[in-house]
Amino acid sequence: MEFSIKTLSPETAETGCIVLGIYGGNAASKELTASARRVDQRSKGALAAALTDLASKVGSTLLLRALPNVAAERVLLVSLGARNEFGETQYRDAVRGAASALRDLAAKEAALFLVDVKLDSRPLSWNVRHAVLNVREAFYRFDELKSQKKSTAATLAKVTLPLSSNAQLEQALAEAEATADGVDLARTLGNLPSNICTPSYLADQAKKLARDFKLEVEVLERKDMEKLGMGALLAVTSASHEPPKLIVLRYGGAAKSKQPLALVGKGITFDTGGISLKPAAEMDEMKFDMSGAGSVLGAIRALAGMKAPVNVVGIIPACENMPGGHAIKPGDVVTTLSGQTVEILNTDAEGRLILCDALTYAERFKPDVVVDIATLTGACVIALGHVATGLFANDQRLADDMREAADDAWDRVWQMPLWEEYQEQLRSNFADFANIGGRPGGSITAASFLARFTRKQRWAHLDIAGTAWRSGREKGSTGRPVPLLVRFALRHAGRK
Ligand code: BES
Ligand code: MN
Ligand code: ZN
Repeated sequence: MEFSIKTLSPETAETGCIVLGIYGGNAASKELTASARRVDQRSKGALAAALTDLASKVGSTLLLRALPNVAAERVLLVSLGARNEFGETQYRDAVRGAASALRDLAAKEAALFLVDVKLDSRPLSWNVRHAVLNVREAFYRFDELKSQKKSTAATLAKVTLPLSSNAQLEQALAEAEATADGVDLARTLGNLPSNICTPSYLADQAKKLARDFKLEVEVLERKDMEKLGMGALLAVTSASHEPPKLIVLRYGGAAKSKQPLALVGKGITFDTGGISLKPAAEMDEMKFDMSGAGSVLGAIRALAGMKAPVNVVGIIPACENMPGGHAIKPGDVVTTLSGQTVEILNTDAEGRLILCDALTYAERFKPDVVVDIATLTGACVIALGHVATGLFANDQRLADDMREAADDAWDRVWQMPLWEEYQEQLRSNFADFANIGGRPGGSITAASFLARFTRKQRWAHLDIAGTAWRSGREKGSTGRPVPLLVRFALRHAGRK
């Protein structure tokens, strides 16, 4: 799919389909946007005459064909809702509604006149980014494992964003397209089942990215982890027949002297729970337990693809969490890379065990900021549902920056506390501390565990258990929080 920014008149645009926005809460109070008004005038009121058939819900669409004196063969009207309520949510819903209509129409090309509807709160570059990301999201397909592929004829090949081009808008377009590529990669890695997407597969994907985008990659094997003393990571992988990998992928887009941003992604390619076995229902969804890893690969792909002026190091501990004769058992004590000892009271709290060693390992890259991304706790889903990612940080300015980037990317987070009082729940009679803290505040005690390994660093933790994938009929990876990570990295480097 190819996007371009160029000035177009809606009435003379020679494209398969023009998309026009219509305000109005109810049928009686419909109001045309500037572009829609031009088409209406040219067609002598044919557009206005059809408006009663357009539902008022934001994102509803109505297709008109062969309007008199209008060059485009099809005109797709999209409801924007009441004018005085129009904001960021409505803009995105309208783009999404238009995109799914274009998909159902099997349109080959379109001009999205929605992008010129300016919001008071955001620059036009925001419109461009969110138009591209939402259209690309609507057209994402994962059918590589179906024997009958859906026809590829239904792909939208050309999308014009009718704006007067300038450097800022072109940069927004390049950023959004690269981000969408990163989101697609994260989604596909998440959707792939654990018998394909193994730790070795993730390592191969990192190597492929390194080839395609000229990145540095290093993959640590079990023997390297043993030499280093990564006792927690090794404990989790102990019953798996798949070799564990610690993937380090570096992109250098800024001066070598500039400290990197470290992204640490949980890469459990399948989480059975281990000896603390999970119940059978919905266990298939634990193939998504590597979504943090997928988001790190996706974000690096995006940043490298747009040649962003940032230095990033991605660190991915990848393994399976399995039961078996060699499995760790509740009560086992391990020594982490940091030297601290942990009593593993529940083998299903494995994410924090692989992350703690990876976070300690991150220190050697002297990162400016370290962010870990993990499908860490069911408790986070209970707290925040499927809307917001849980945000924890040991530095309030970093938390604020992260939240602003999240709002900008519409990949939202909600900050949770990380107060010392919670540490008490992790106490152990047999080791320095335990890997679980009981049911109260489960996502907070998980973060508090990680906090014990990041005292020397400026650190944020994103619990994406509720946001990385959808369940039910629409089951599948969302690619979150790639948009947030990319936006955060760019803003961190000074780009607005
Ligand atoms: N990967 C899971 C977290 C998870 C569970 C994410 C369900 C999304 C949906 C994690 O490894 C896990 O099992 N966490 C346990 C921790 C508990 C044993 C303290 C959990 O949340 O139940
Ligand atoms: Mn688990
Ligand atoms: Zn897990």
